[in-house]
Amino acid sequence: MATPRETNPAPEMVSEGASLEELARAAETCMACELYREATQVVFGVGPKSAPMMLIGEQPGDAEDQEGEPFVGPAGSVLAEALEEAGIRAEDVYLTNVVKHFRWKAKGKRRLHQTPATRHVRACLPWLEAELALVGPQVLVCLGAIASQALLGRSFRVTKDRGKKLAWGDHTVVATIHPSAVLRATEPDDRERLRSSLVEDLVTAQRLIGKKRRE
Ligand code: URA
Ligand code: SF4
Repeated sequence: MATPRETNPAPEMVSEGASLEELARAAETCMACELYREATQVVFGVGPKSAPMMLIGEQPGDAEDQEGEPFVGPAGSVLAEALEEAGIRAEDVYLTNVVKHFRWKAKGKRRLHQTPATRHVRACLPWLEAELALVGPQVLVCLGAIASQALLGRSFRVTKDRGKKLAWGDHTVVATIHPSAVLRATEPDDRERLRSSLVEDLVTAQRLIGKKRRE
């Protein structure tokens, strides 16, 4: 077991040639912000090493925190259905989050999601950069405001610029809504509109890698 780290070790691990597995193991001992304290475990990205598409969420939710894998809860089901409808095979994408530990506050017996603060995003970003360096996806899809703003700046608005071909450094980026926005919509019409926006933007991202697959 590696010793706990109070600064994020990811950049030096990448320059030393670490693998994704080694990064995931090192993240278990990360203490670069306080979120590790209240979370059950770190939730690192999963997916093929050479995935052409990387999907980036906000942070693990309650289910992900317990299971240790991204997008295994209700938002993950919405995402899986949207991927299928967009003709993208789930096993072809690398799934991760900008923040790797669940931020929550107690309400009775429930653990309520709390949006990560800028300091958490900043502390955790080297893990995402390391995943990007190793996976080298052709297109990144930011799911929701937190992931989009982490890469594209605080003034980025998903509502205004979703589904466009954008850039972050050398990376091609498409921003879209977060699948949990579909779950939060109370009116069926809103829910359908949001769901089809998500599918449409995933199709756009898939076209950008020029390998649109339909099963
Ligand atoms: N929401 C996210 O942004 N990421 C997850 O892994 C689960 C829910
Ligand atoms: Fe480290 Fe990220 Fe967890 Fe903070 S949220 S302790 S930076 S892995």
